Amino acid sequence: MTQEITFIQREQLKAKPDPASLGFGKYFTDYMFVMDYHTDNGWHNARIVPYGPLTLDPSSMVFHYGQAIFEGMKAYKTPDGEVQLFRPDKNMKRLNDSCDRLCIPQIDGEFLLKAIKQLVTVEKDWVPEGAGQSLYIRPFIYASEAGLGVHPAHQYTLLVIMSPSGAYYGDQLNPVNIYVEEHYVRAVLGGVGHVKTSGNYAASLKAQEKAEANGYAQILWLDAKENKYVEEVGSMNIFFKINGEVVTPKLNGSILPGVTRDSVIQILKHWGEPVREERISIEEVFAAYERGELEEVFGAGTAAVISPVGELTWNGKTIVINDRKIGQTSQRLYDGITGIQLGKLEDPFNWTVKV
Ligand code: COI
Repeated sequence: MTQEITFIQREQLKAKPDPASLGFGKYFTDYMFVMDYHTDNGWHNARIVPYGPLTLDPSSMVFHYGQAIFEGMKAYKTPDGEVQLFRPDKNMKRLNDSCDRLCIPQIDGEFLLKAIKQLVTVEKDWVPEGAGQSLYIRPFIYASEAGLGVHPAHQYTLLVIMSPSGAYYGDQLNPVNIYVEEHYVRAVLGGVGHVKTSGNYAASLKAQEKAEANGYAQILWLDAKENKYVEEVGSMNIFFKINGEVVTPKLNGSILPGVTRDSVIQILKHWGEPVREERISIEEVFAAYERGELEEVFGAGTAAVISPVGELTWNGKTIVINDRKIGQTSQRLYDGITGIQLGKLEDPFNWTVKV
């Protein structure tokens, strides 16, 4: 795709938020990237325009049948003031995997990455520099065709919006409490759990609301068939350190293949630490706790980074992990991954890409 990216300047730039109160996904930068698709002429009209509201026909198919997908990635400021991305090729690939599953036309990942770099360059001043902060990048695509017939749309819009953000769960390394859901399910085999479609998140809200009302930060989802095997948290993948070995559920078609998940596995292997991807039941996790072998539990995700778990509740029983303190492996992984992302540590994997 060799199309030009048009730039439309805004009249006045926004005031920047207080870096001390960024939170996650609350503030948005001055500009956004937009591109349209129609079956007649493919992806076209690539443009960087002032961030602002969209006008949509009320019958736009996304509102009715949910053809919508997204990605999550981040831009980081390095100590020498440069800005870099982390494994953006993985996000481009996963975006196309999501497109494929939702019958959305493929995008040219190289072109989109070029557009994202251009957008980040325009918004360089929005990349925060505080501890645990970065510029969260949210590419997304929705069916913009007007009409109520159920079929893959002929018209789509792709946008990239960006938000200077801090930790996803309040205080980054403060362990979170997690509730193991036994009634509702997140995803079924053959469904859409392995891609990033908006409906997965909508389907999780009921259980999430119940968990939050009971003082939990997140849900740990079990498999939909037997309600037995651990899947993921929804905003992050999950890892258990049992008797010196790190275990994470094997990708099975209903778990999201997280970029941070893959990075954790590769880093652990690089360090020579034992790590296994395999089906693990929640019963086994609680049994490991009873044997005194459950050393650490942590989540890994783009927004969540490495997020230690302090408590797990399942079947009316609550277990406290590592005295509600961040474990050694979680801390080492957090330091290792953020060190590479922020350009403070050597990047032996060539994961970072300068903007
Ligand atoms: C991300 O980590 O980028 C995600 O998309 C998870 C989202 C729930 C914040």
